Parts: sequence; structure tokens; C-alpha cells
Amino acid sequence: MKIHTERGTLLDRDFQAVVLPLYEKDTELAGSARAVDSACGGAIGTLLASGDFTGKLFDMALLYTGGSIPSSRILVVGMGKREEFDVEKLRGLFSKAAQKIRGLHITAFALALDGDTPDIPLDRKAMAAAEGIILGLYRFTPFKTADTDNDTEIESVTIVADDAASLDVITPAVAEAEIIADAVYLARDLVSNPYNEMTPTILAERAEEVAAGGNLDIEVLDWDAMEKLGMNTLLGVARGSKAPPRFIVMQYRGGAPEEKPVVLIGKGITFDSGGISIKPSAKMEDMKSDMSGGAAVIATMKAVAALKLPRNVVGIVPATENLPGGNAMKPGDILKSLSGQTVEVINTDAEGRLVLADAITYAHRFEPAAIIDIATLTGACIIALGDNVIGMLGTDEALNRAVKDASEATGEQAWELPLWHEYEDLIKSDAADMKNVGNRAAGTITAALFLKKFAGDYPWCHLDIAGPALLDKEKPYIPKGASGVGVRLFVQLLKEWNAPGQ
Ligand code: BES
Ligand code: ZN
Ligand code: ZN
Repeated sequence: MKIHTERGTLLDRDFQAVVLPLYEKDTELAGSARAVDSACGGAIGTLLASGDFTGKLFDMALLYTGGSIPSSRILVVGMGKREEFDVEKLRGLFSKAAQKIRGLHITAFALALDGDTPDIPLDRKAMAAAEGIILGLYRFTPFKTADTDNDTEIESVTIVADDAASLDVITPAVAEAEIIADAVYLARDLVSNPYNEMTPTILAERAEEVAAGGNLDIEVLDWDAMEKLGMNTLLGVARGSKAPPRFIVMQYRGGAPEEKPVVLIGKGITFDSGGISIKPSAKMEDMKSDMSGGAAVIATMKAVAALKLPRNVVGIVPATENLPGGNAMKPGDILKSLSGQTVEVINTDAEGRLVLADAITYAHRFEPAAIIDIATLTGACIIALGDNVIGMLGTDEALNRAVKDASEATGEQAWELPLWHEYEDLIKSDAADMKNVGNRAAGTITAALFLKKFAGDYPWCHLDIAGPALLDKEKPYIPKGASGVGVRLFVQLLKEWNAPGQ
């Protein structure tokens, strides 16, 4: 699908359908809505007067124009209460409209962005509309051999603006949104693929394909290279599986050569069975999504390179599966990490922190401005914050603030949990420097405290995406399934980067 921008109005030609957002109980039509209404002999005013459409958020009504304007349909969409409208609702609104139009088996529509939203700058409006449309239309279908309900795709969306100045703002904003949404699609695809199609080797190959797209260097370490370095907590996890692990390192150099890079690290457990501490069968299939953090990092690197951001960024994905094979690590094993610190493995299902520990240590070689990891790390995070929220824990206030700002700008909600050092007692081991789990209390915090032991003095922030990575219920512009969470937050963070170490 392509989003075009065009100088003109919704009345200029046949777009198949035009989308008009309207506030709840809005009787004063403005801009495009007013122009369309008068061209259609007051049809929208009549609809509003009938009470059939009240403008409640995401409510819709479809009008047939009968030739009064070139397009044959008008889709009116509720914006809800004027004082509650924001950019996140705008994403959802255009997503819902696009989904509705696709459901009607229509392949094109148009919209204008001249509605009365004084608090949202036009570039953000254009980005949000484009993101909402593209992200909401995502479907993962490669394994559906017969699905006739799903055969319509929207081919073209046109955003019109009747003055050149607005068009000059809208066009680059839409182009940026397309790049970012394309990266979110990549992340969702990587996660949606079942494990048999997404082993560590395949994930590394996908990363290589991304790097071949340009502006990115990549290095993939295999078992021997990792062993030589001493990545024994990572290899401890990999030992239970026949599938060889991969350690993916992608580099983008868009900033000055002396500028310290931001290192992003994504958990890449391509399947988490729990290992010897095996998980119950119910919902175990969801654990194909345990590489969602890694997918977000690879996709972010793709977007950063395509956008040519003026930053230096490193993306690291420790990729392996966690299986209870004959050579698997066992509860009680003690592993020596790349940092030299030793870890007593109490529960082999707490494998994410073991692979991240070595990846975070490896990141030190880049002398980073900051290290940010993203991981489906703890079920406890879902209990604490629910399905839709990223748990955020970090050592540096400015970095946390920057992440939080990016989270607010993108609607990828992050909420800070405390890194209370008193809780470190919970992961003290009698036999080694630490153990890999605490008790059930504060599971997300003890997991983060474990990771912190490997961050050194670098500003570090940890994002636990166990909740939002895989949705079992759709959100307005995120269909059910893999969400691609993290990509938009990271791109926004790197765009606005002004945090520590610079
Ligand atoms: N990948 C899981 C965490 C997870 C759970 C992600 C549910 C998404 C949905 C992680 O490796 C894990 O198993 N964590 C354990 C830690 C425990 C053993 C301390 C958990 O959360 O139960
Ligand atoms: Zn696990
Ligand atoms: Zn896991």
C-alpha cells in the first residue's frame, strides 16, 4: 500500500471513499467536512440531526453520495469528546476507518487533515494518521493457503491538502511514518513466524538481509566465537538445544565518528520452553514470541538506517532457544559469565537474564553513551502492569526521562518500576556471586537488579515487554498477535536523543 499526498480537496476526484472524522455532538462542521457536506446537499448535517451518529470515539457511519461528489462513499468516524482527543486517538481513528474500508472490499480512500485539533501540530497529525492506517492494516498471512475473506488489500490512500505549505509539512511526515511502520511490520513478521521458521540461524539471516539493505554493518558470532569470548551464561541456555545460537551485532554510524553509540540489546529467545524447569503446556506456543525484544532491535536498526538518523547506534541480539535437551543446564549449575561474575542457576526458565547478562557485558566494548535492553523478561511484569504496558527500570534519571518521553510521544506506554537495591538480597547465592531468580515477590525488579550487575557504570535502562509484545486482544491500531512494540519508541528516542554521555 502507498500513501500519497496531493494538493487539492476531497471533492476533486473519485477516491472510492472519503473519511471524515467528527467530534461528538459537533454541529459546527469545519474545513473539509463542511465542504463535503455542502456538496452533498447537507447529507452530513442530516445524519447528525437524525441522532443515528453521535460522534462517540470510533463510531462510524457510511453514507452513499449518489453522484453528488466524485467519490461514492463517505465514512464518518467519531472522534469522541473534543477535550479528550489526542494523537493516540487519531492513530486509532484512521486505523479503524482503514480496517472498515478494507472490510467493505474497497481498495482506496482519501482524507484531509484540516480538522479542528489545535493542540496537535500538522506533522504529528500526518505521521499519526499514516502510522495508524498502516499499522492497523497489518495481517500475518503467509501460512494461510485459503482465506477468501482476507483477500482485499487497500492499495492507495490519498491525503489531500489544499495549500502548498501544508503539503510541504505532510509529505515528509508521511514518508517518515512509512519507514517506521515498515520496520514495525518487520518486527511483527519476525515474531509472528512460528519457531520452525524462526530459529536463531534464521533470525540472524533476516538481520543480515536488513543490513544488506544499506547503511548497516553486521557481525554474527557463532558458538565457537562466543565460547572463546567466555559467554558462558548465554551458552548455558543454548546447551539444551540442537539449534546453534547466534550473537547478532548490527552497527549504524550516522553520527560523528567520536560520538559514543547508543547500544540497544534485544532478548532473542526464539523459543522458551523453560528448559529443565519446563513451563506448563497451556499457552506455551506463545513463547515463540520470546524474541520480540530482538525483533524490535533488528527492526529499529532498519528504520534508523533508512531514516539516516544522525546518531551512532549498535543493535545486539543474543539469539538462542531454551530447551530441555540432554545437555541442558540444570538447576544448581553455576555459570561464569563474560563479566567474570558467577551465577547459580536456580530456575532454567529465567533464561532471558542469562543471555542478556553476556550481551550487556559485550556492549561495554563500544563505550556506549547508554545501554538499553528490551525483553519479554518476566510474567511478573504482566501481573504488575497488565498486558499493555512496558515495565521500565534504569540507573540514569535523564535516560529514563528520555525513554518516558519517547513512550508518551508514540503511545507505547512505559511505566517505571523502582530498582530498590535492598531487593538485591533476594538474588544472593550461597554458592556463587548471585542466583538467577529471587522468590516470587517483585519478580520484575529482581530480574532488573540481576541485569544491573552487568551494566557497569554505563547509563542503562531495561524495558520489560512481556505484556505488550503479543496481544491476545486487538488494540485500535494493533491487530491481535505480535505488536512490534519498542520499534516506534526506540526510533523516537534516537530521533530526539539528547541524553547522557553526549
Ligand atoms: N519468557 C519468559 C517471560 C514471559 C512470560 C514472557 C509470559 C511473556 C509472557 C521468561 O523467560 C520466564 O520464563 N520468566 C520467568 C521467570 C521466573 C522463573 C523467575 C517467569 O516470569 O515466570
Ligand atoms: Zn523463561
Ligand atoms: Zn523467556
